[in-house]
Amino acid sequence: MYRVRNLNGVLAELRMLRAERRSPCLPRPFTTASVAITPTMNSGKSVAACCGALALAYACAESNFAAEKLALASGSAMYTADDVSLRDGMEGRELWVTYHGGVYDLTDFAKEHPGGAAFIKSAAGGAIEPWWQYWKKHSQSKVDVNALIAKYKIGEHSDWDGDTTPIELFDDEPSRNIEHQHLVMAEQPLETETWTPRLNEQLLTSADALYVRNHAPVPRVSSADGHKIDFVLHTADDPEILMRSIQLGNLIKEKPQKVVPSVLQCAGNRAADNIKATGPTGFSGSEFETMGVGMAGCGIWGGASLKNVLESVYGGYSIMREKNLWVEFHGLDGYFTSIPLEVANDCFRDALIATHMNGEPLNRDHGFPARILLPGIIGARSVKWLSKVVLRRSEGDSPWNARYYKAKLPGEAETLKDMPSAMKLPVQSIMLTNDASPSEPGGSQYLKRSDSRLLSGVAYSGFSGDSIAKVEVSTDQGLSWNEAKVTDSLKQFQEDDSSKEKGNFHWVKWELTTGYKDAKEVWVRAFSSGGEIQPAEPKPNPGYLFNGYHKVPIVG
Ligand code: HEM
Repeated sequence: MYRVRNLNGVLAELRMLRAERRSPCLPRPFTTASVAITPTMNSGKSVAACCGALALAYACAESNFAAEKLALASGSAMYTADDVSLRDGMEGRELWVTYHGGVYDLTDFAKEHPGGAAFIKSAAGGAIEPWWQYWKKHSQSKVDVNALIAKYKIGEHSDWDGDTTPIELFDDEPSRNIEHQHLVMAEQPLETETWTPRLNEQLLTSADALYVRNHAPVPRVSSADGHKIDFVLHTADDPEILMRSIQLGNLIKEKPQKVVPSVLQCAGNRAADNIKATGPTGFSGSEFETMGVGMAGCGIWGGASLKNVLESVYGGYSIMREKNLWVEFHGLDGYFTSIPLEVANDCFRDALIATHMNGEPLNRDHGFPARILLPGIIGARSVKWLSKVVLRRSEGDSPWNARYYKAKLPGEAETLKDMPSAMKLPVQSIMLTNDASPSEPGGSQYLKRSDSRLLSGVAYSGFSGDSIAKVEVSTDQGLSWNEAKVTDSLKQFQEDDSSKEKGNFHWVKWELTTGYKDAKEVWVRAFSSGGEIQPAEPKPNPGYLFNGYHKVPIVG
């Protein structure tokens, strides 16, 4: 059985196992190369069509005897680990994997895989189980992955030892203070929203209360100073030219440190409101469909200016004068995504290689020792556990650009390819007062009927970095609106840099005392100083960037 801790562990373990099995004629049952015994494999391909495994297979023919007998008896093709490892998807070879005693030809499926072809390739020639346990979405998906993979079965795996013990990849997660601050949507990997009353307690979200959206087990980094970040150039001819590798300790010492108050918000925040307002979205039927307003928080982030670091690494090269460049961020967990370079270089928004939140080193869930922080941009692009930065001429093939986190603009084609990646957060206001209890399902939020009550929440302008001009509250379904009191107490943390205009990416607090004895709902909407208004009826969308009026139901 495998026992691995992180992505590198999975890779190392798989490489080791494959290397072992590649040696022909190993003295263990069924470990020598063999080929299908039946004349035609389940996939319809003839035995002769199979690649170089044949040579090994015939050389080791005597050890195939048992497999052959078994295969003849069951009527299905039998393959050893060596057969599979040779179908590694490289240089035009087929792409095979094993799974629970079966052998699967994923050559065609790789192109359709929602997680992208590159990820499937990393499992090519070996077992899929460790990868599915690492990218655990496979067992939580709305799509039945077992039914999906079944379509690609071509035979049995003669070397399978029958061991289905799960690999414990999530046994080194950080210790967490979840109770009374988080609503947990999934535990492995952790996906939480902050419980609204907790967000309402203080304008600055504490690190242990901030929502968590992990995609895989949390990497462990022992030394912040010694942690290395590689800076790479990607060109059509050479996908990986290492320009510099910088130790975080040196990066902090060499570059002036900046402090930026900013909201961090998941693109899918308010998924439940979105579904209610526009009909089913990509989140319907998933663990996110009950998500309230708590996948957002506001911190004071500290770190080195991303623009500054990129200039010092790539500035001397002519590519930096080209237009339409992208910068891709990779985390130690294997997650990666890209943004236009102009966003990273925008002084107005002060993107960071952040090492601190609210004056403390980042905690493990939020990317210790370093993460990207992109004010005004969806949280999915602020990659945690930063290990590599790639400057490239195209958006790249990250599934989290190519398939997930898409923004559909009105009138645009419906194919994924034609949809732009979600980037810009829209203006937003949310009510944080909540009479529901955390034990109620999902992100429940409602208010008990009242003659007079202090209601409060937050508002922010998102990508524009404009200030919030006003927040209004309606208790009669939008027939009339009352202006709330807005307090901007986090602006003081913005760096005093009079030479440059700075955006407002933090949130402000709004408060209003009002009665809503006969109301059905209380509505909230915000206006930015640039004229952006939260819409009454947002257009249908894939599930991201919802910013319709926040409507909180009244009960009792
Ligand atoms: C036959 C084999 C496979 C099938 C049928 C399959 C199926 C899927 C499906 C249905 C999703 C979408 C899940 C969702 O969003 O609900 C997905 C996502 C993904 N897959 Fe696979 N997959 C396979 C193999 C692999 C392998 C071998 C890897 C990695 C080496 C991989 C990595 C990923 C990743 C990274 C995602 C994105 C998950 C996330 O955002 O957390 N997949 N896959």
